[in-house]
Amino acid sequence: MAGILIFSENLLRECNKIPNLNERASMIYALIEAYGLIKHVTIQHPRRATYEELLLCHSENFLRHLKTCDGSEEVTEEDEEFGLSYDCSKFSDLYQFAEVIAGGTVTAAEALISGSRFAINWCGGWHHAQSDRADGFCYVNDIVVAIQKLVSHFPRVLYVDLDVHHGDGVENAFSCTKRVFCLSFHLHEAGFFPGTGGVEECGFGNGKGYTANFPYRRNISGKRFRESFYKTTKLIMERFNPTACVIQCSADVIAGDPLGGANLTPKDIAECIKVVKSWNIPSLFVGGGGYNLPNASRHFTFLTATICGADELSDDIPEHDFFNAYGPGFELSVEQKNLKDCNTDAELEEIYQSIVRNLDKFGVFPEKL
Ligand code: FE2
Repeated sequence: MAGILIFSENLLRECNKIPNLNERASMIYALIEAYGLIKHVTIQHPRRATYEELLLCHSENFLRHLKTCDGSEEVTEEDEEFGLSYDCSKFSDLYQFAEVIAGGTVTAAEALISGSRFAINWCGGWHHAQSDRADGFCYVNDIVVAIQKLVSHFPRVLYVDLDVHHGDGVENAFSCTKRVFCLSFHLHEAGFFPGTGGVEECGFGNGKGYTANFPYRRNISGKRFRESFYKTTKLIMERFNPTACVIQCSADVIAGDPLGGANLTPKDIAECIKVVKSWNIPSLFVGGGGYNLPNASRHFTFLTATICGADELSDDIPEHDFFNAYGPGFELSVEQKNLKDCNTDAELEEIYQSIVRNLDKFGVFPEKL
């Protein structure tokens, strides 16, 4: 079966409500369409997630509280307890928002279960939401709900998080199971959100060894990132042998992101996506962060072409509704910045070796699967 692109006007409308993202979701899908990429995919309209499905990640108390959010802007003590303040400010009909956003990624997971080779939901990827707490612009953890659906069908699911921030919500949800391996690459330095994701964090209890973190320093270059990605994923593919994967492809790793700190380009991440494709297992691609909105739109459009195997896209942005947002150059490509890479090859090799040691120490070997 062909690949699936999750899309509906309602999904875009809900996704556009996320603070800091303005019309980002609409921009992304308009650019994908303007480049004619729709003909390479089957469009799937998402359904809403059910209450039982949201419970696969979230607590009853949290969901009950979301249902009470009716648009009043006054932040109560209870709101703060559930993370609904600061970067996750309240807005009206939050529960309905959660149903729609999680529903997009659940629909993508169901497409894989039905035999699609890949499914894309650029309106998903909200990896910081915790069981009973919104955090870091993430109100509902669509990824966790979707992986819970996938593990009902696929024996082993690999989750790879490319966001510049540690994928803490997803890692926490699956840290005690062998069925889901969570691998996160992220910037890790004092004061950088969320602060977790050191290389020593590798799961708990039954899941010990089935989490890996690849922390890097500021302004990592494409070459170093790609090499780290290639060898770490090769290792985990050999040891864990997943039967499906979920890749969080955030645009906040792209050079020039206001909340980022990596120095990558969409082409760097596309090279990583080509590796994912070579695994030849059902793959679910979701979005996530990316706060330079035109660059995020460029990034997700470029990745869509790579995932679909479309011909290389022209670097001239086609005329469409959001054309003016891409000025002054109106180009698709994003160049890396002239910044000092604070990583060294030796340090990155040491992080890789630490991951190897964790897998050895906690017995992650193919014969144990
Ligand atoms: Fe992020």
